Amino acid sequence: MKVSVTVKELHEAISAAGEVPVGFVPTMGALHRGHLSLVMKALDESPLVVVSIFVNPTQFNDTKDLEKYPRTPAGDLAMLREILRPSDIVFMPGEKEIYPEKDTRTFSFGNLDRVMEALHRPGHFNGVAQVVSRLFEIVGPSVAYFGQKDFQQLAVIRELVRQTGSAIKIVACPIVRESDGLAMSSRNVLLEPGIRKNASSIFRALSEASTMLSRCDIPEIRQYVAGCINSLPGFALEYFEIADEKELIPAVSGSEIISGRKYFCCIAVRAGSVRLIDNMEMRLD
Ligand code: PAF
Repeated sequence: MKVSVTVKELHEAISAAGEVPVGFVPTMGALHRGHLSLVMKALDESPLVVVSIFVNPTQFNDTKDLEKYPRTPAGDLAMLREILRPSDIVFMPGEKEIYPEKDTRTFSFGNLDRVMEALHRPGHFNGVAQVVSRLFEIVGPSVAYFGQKDFQQLAVIRELVRQTGSAIKIVACPIVRESDGLAMSSRNVLLEPGIRKNASSIFRALSEASTMLSRCDIPEIRQYVAGCINSLPGFALEYFEIADEKELIPAVSGSEIISGRKYFCCIAVRAGSVRLIDNMEMRLD
């Protein structure tokens, strides 16, 4: 595996690999098995894989969150070295490589940027769109791999690709979970031990909620989930919504569910000092 720190080095490494189609896995580092599943999928499908590690400041609406975001470059490189091939590339740029000048672009994603995460993290998806569009421009991938844990991010990125008329194929990879069901996240290492032991309740609440539509209306499901989460010491529900996969319009009543569409229950929870998100497809049978 090669490591590039500048755009110039990256382009040289891509040229040296023979300008073959690139499978791209953008990350913010602090890698875990969830990231590795994206890299494995890219390795299966692409003759050349580029993994980027860049903690993008423009997508953090909270400076404290940016400061405490885990950074483990040595461990990340060791994990990637185990699985990447000699010509695959890890791109670890500094901020000036990605943003030689301040990025002032504003994106518009309609409803996708008005619900759930967008309400709680103003400007977050604009920052994601800035960095992802910039990385796409720099790396020039044919395919890019994203985790389904960031359900709304995935919809935003698909829309970004649609709006820019880009030919990049976006591949969504399933959520990877810890053995107790907690969705893998770089932020999990920040969970205080007392909080971590109850964090699997998020998965359990979602698992139950995802089966409830056949027997309950949405307000009842929301009440059930709020009860599960808010009864745990140190936990507070930020939102729970049932939204369709494409437009992400939160349904307020079961009568709004359109047959033939996929719906997901999406959750954000304050777990001690850490904010966690997760989602699960609703079973509509
Ligand atoms: O999902 C992430 O880790 C980040 O939002 C991404 C896509 C790498 C952009 O910084």
